[in-house]
Amino acid sequence: MRAIDHQPYLRAEQYHTAANLDARISMHQRFSQNSYGVPRWLFDQVDARSTHMFEIGCGSGNIWQENAARMPDHWQLTLCDFSRGMVAQAQQNLAAAGVAARYLVADAQELPLQEATFDAAFAHFMLYHVPDRCRALGELRRVLKPGGRLYAATNGRQHLSELFDLAQQFDAQFNGWRNSASESFKIENGAAQLAAHFSKVTLLPYHDELLISDPEAVVSYIASFAPLSVAQQADFSAFVRDAFNLNGGVLRVTKASGLFIAEC
Ligand SMILES: C[S@@+](CC[C@H](N)C(=O)[O-])C[C@H]1O[C@@H](n2cnc3c(N)ncnc32)[C@H](O)[C@@H]1O
Repeated sequence: MRAIDHQPYLRAEQYHTAANLDARISMHQRFSQNSYGVPRWLFDQVDARSTHMFEIGCGSGNIWQENAARMPDHWQLTLCDFSRGMVAQAQQNLAAAGVAARYLVADAQELPLQEATFDAAFAHFMLYHVPDRCRALGELRRVLKPGGRLYAATNGRQHLSELFDLAQQFDAQFNGWRNSASESFKIENGAAQLAAHFSKVTLLPYHDELLISDPEAVVSYIASFAPLSVAQQADFSAFVRDAFNLNGGVLRVTKASGLFIAEC
């Protein structure tokens, strides 16, 4: 079981379509104990005076889909991702939700956009994937207007650690991106990186945990990082079921996420 995170893999496999991301979002939706939910909470933090909004690494457009009923009429959204499949999925999801947006396929490290265009930029759960993050943050700063804000949600070191521990007990090779690129932009080390480009940086924590009662949800979650053969999947399912039985049928999992707000 091997999770890899280099750029060709991210583009061609992991984020080629929304399937892996959807498997992960679904687990949070089913088992999170804070019923408010991250998409709604992230939306609450946006400065309501903003008009021109830009999202990089938009994925399937989850945040806008979940807040469709609350979108102010004057907002103009531009959603961008380097995966054509993700952009197509976001377009389909937001059309169904009645949210109007402009779409763009581009890399965070080289945005084909004019400077000082946006009031707000969003880079949620994606900066840890970007190889030259300093360049990407410079690009985000460039396209923001003076006084604009970057909103960047990310995870902490303990996020889902019990899940990744379980996968690693099954197969020592599995790292779930813990020791690789995803270490690079965490709630513990993101502020210093943002401070190199922005004048004021604030971190807001989101409090939650998972109480997982379905072993198969764990198997699907881990498989979204590291594709499993049919035989591996059967072995891993049995391993996870045993772990659940030892824990009284429920797995308690730490969530550690937060939102950086960086001001120009
Ligand atoms: C974990 S998903 C997060 C999606 C969405 N922001 C959310 O919170 O649901 C990461 C997304 O970032 C995109 N991505 C990764 N590296 C990128 C880059 N260098 N430029 C643009 N998009 C990138 C991926 O294709 C994927 O859609």
